[in-house]
Amino acid sequence: MKGFNPSTNLSFFLQLFLITVHLFSWSSSLKIGETCSSSSSNSGCDSGLTCQTCAANGNTRPRCTRIQPLNPTSKEKGLPFNQYSWLTTHNSYALKGAKSEIGSVIVAPTNQEDSITNQLQNGVRGLMLDMYDFNGDIWLCHSFNGQCFNVTAFQPAINVLKEIQAFLEANPSEIITIFIEDYVVSPQGLTKVFNASGLSKYWFPVSKMPKNGEDWPTVDDMVKQNERLVVFTSKSAKEASEGIAYQWRYVVENQYGDDGMKAGSCPNRAESSPMDTKTRSLVLQNYFPTNPNETAACAENSAPLVSMLNTCQRAAGNRWPNFIAVDFYQRSDGGGAPEAVDIANGHLTCGCDNVAYCKANATFGTCEVPPISPPPPAAATQSTTLSNSNFANMDARPVQLRWMLATILTTILLFRS
Ligand SMILES: *[C@@H]1O[C@H](CO)[C@@H](O)[C@H](O)[C@H]1NC(C)=O
Ligand SMILES: *[C@@H]1O[C@H](CO)[C@@H](O)[C@H](O)[C@H]1NC(C)=O
Ligand SMILES: *[C@@H]1O[C@H](CO)[C@@H](O)[C@H](O)[C@H]1NC(C)=O
Ligand SMILES: *[C@@H]1O[C@H](CO)[C@@H](O)[C@H](O)[C@H]1NC(C)=O
Repeated sequence: MKGFNPSTNLSFFLQLFLITVHLFSWSSSLKIGETCSSSSSNSGCDSGLTCQTCAANGNTRPRCTRIQPLNPTSKEKGLPFNQYSWLTTHNSYALKGAKSEIGSVIVAPTNQEDSITNQLQNGVRGLMLDMYDFNGDIWLCHSFNGQCFNVTAFQPAINVLKEIQAFLEANPSEIITIFIEDYVVSPQGLTKVFNASGLSKYWFPVSKMPKNGEDWPTVDDMVKQNERLVVFTSKSAKEASEGIAYQWRYVVENQYGDDGMKAGSCPNRAESSPMDTKTRSLVLQNYFPTNPNETAACAENSAPLVSMLNTCQRAAGNRWPNFIAVDFYQRSDGGGAPEAVDIANGHLTCGCDNVAYCKANATFGTCEVPPISPPPPAAATQSTTLSNSNFANMDARPVQLRWMLATILTTILLFRS
């Protein structure tokens, strides 16, 4: 203790303490569910996570939250395309804060918050794009009576198609599906813009799409043939005239908007055959409100989405969806849409409740459930159930541990000097 002078040394030891705290916090990156710093751009969360709250669920503590599904082919490779589930963004191009390329302020609602490139990097593999004739070109736009206006026109479709082209080029084993809400009437309009974007060479031909509920080719085969772009249009005539698959011959889809969010029921949307129509090999589950709402999305994309996943699975004749389409796909109160996709992939690829539980190369139904990973999405009532939830208990621990270690170290140093 000799030589310890509180007045001169206090700030030194305080600094030492803070440096030690800092060192310990640096050495551990934050896992899902852990408290993070939403104010800093580098939140400290592991890759594949962002730092966010979910006030709509009563969760105001910033936590590391998943924004990426597991790669569905990571555990079981080589299955038919229709035995995987893919994260899909509704109105993928309608980005929050976007200005129209035409210079207008956009008054149309927005459904996502990051670029197509970023979405693809986060594992989004299904894109819903609304295409219109506009301004002498094909544009991504929102509709009033099937028409595009300056104030609802986001950007020329070619921009986004080029982003998709660049991703497919850089990632030679990835497959992307585009669902076009098609208002294009100009002759060969879609073909021209796909040609111009360089995407035509990845085109999966309509002739190879199963017409009667058979399995699709395997993903390995699609990759080998470099037929890695699956495109559907909402206009039936274009299948014959342009070789673009008419969606409702191949896909069933539940009701979108508020009517598709009523717990316990999963009716088909008007254009689709009934959900349990097994001559359609692909199943798409919509889950987003009529009016997109970023604040509410984190709650909707969590437990209610997973609940609807089970409802729609039964409605579709015990088929898990191949596409799960949401607004603000990054928003959740825990696992979110990425976790819903992992659940579907677990059932589809290996017979487990989550693709994370699949045992590589094991027989169907062989599962390895890790103790707390991935953790269940936190419930709104989390604070009252803290004591019996592994997930909740885990949150605070690393922070406490850091401070405890720092305190011990500083104390030792203090008393040695
Ligand atoms: C739409 O934008 C274009 C280009 O800026 C402009 O020439 C045109 O007048 C606008 N149309 C309307 C109806 O505002
Ligand atoms: C699109 O590209 C294909 C292959 O290069 C070509 O045969 C076809 O004529 C093009 N179509 C249009 C409308 O540009
Ligand atoms: C969006 O959702 C929040 C949270 O549920 C709600 O308070 C708000 O009224 C909603 N906004 C709109 C425009 O519906
Ligand atoms: C599973 O099988 C594939 C292909 O046979 C092989 O490349 C991979 O290493 C295997 N994985 C494990 C964990 O055994």
